[in-house]
Amino acid sequence: MSETTIKVRNAGPLLVTGSFTITDADGNVFGLAGRTQVALCRCGQSEQKPFCDGSHRGAGFDSVCPARDLPPPAPKG
Ligand code: FES
Repeated sequence: MSETTIKVRNAGPLLVTGSFTITDADGNVFGLAGRTQVALCRCGQSEQKPFCDGSHRGAGFDSVCPARDLPPPAPKG
């Protein structure tokens, strides 16, 4: 089984590649018709959320997120 990767595209969507399942808030599964890569909107402008429909290009969305290390998670209390 291939590793799932998520690529944060500059001024664009999250590209999810590999083996994955996407569900709605109720746990219902989106049918992906065999796709092994999807683009998830992170600009908030897509008419096809959670998927990217290219609207970020005309929306002036600008975001660059270089990879970095997160701090340790807060302890659960
Ligand atoms: S990131 Fe593409 S439409 Fe939002």
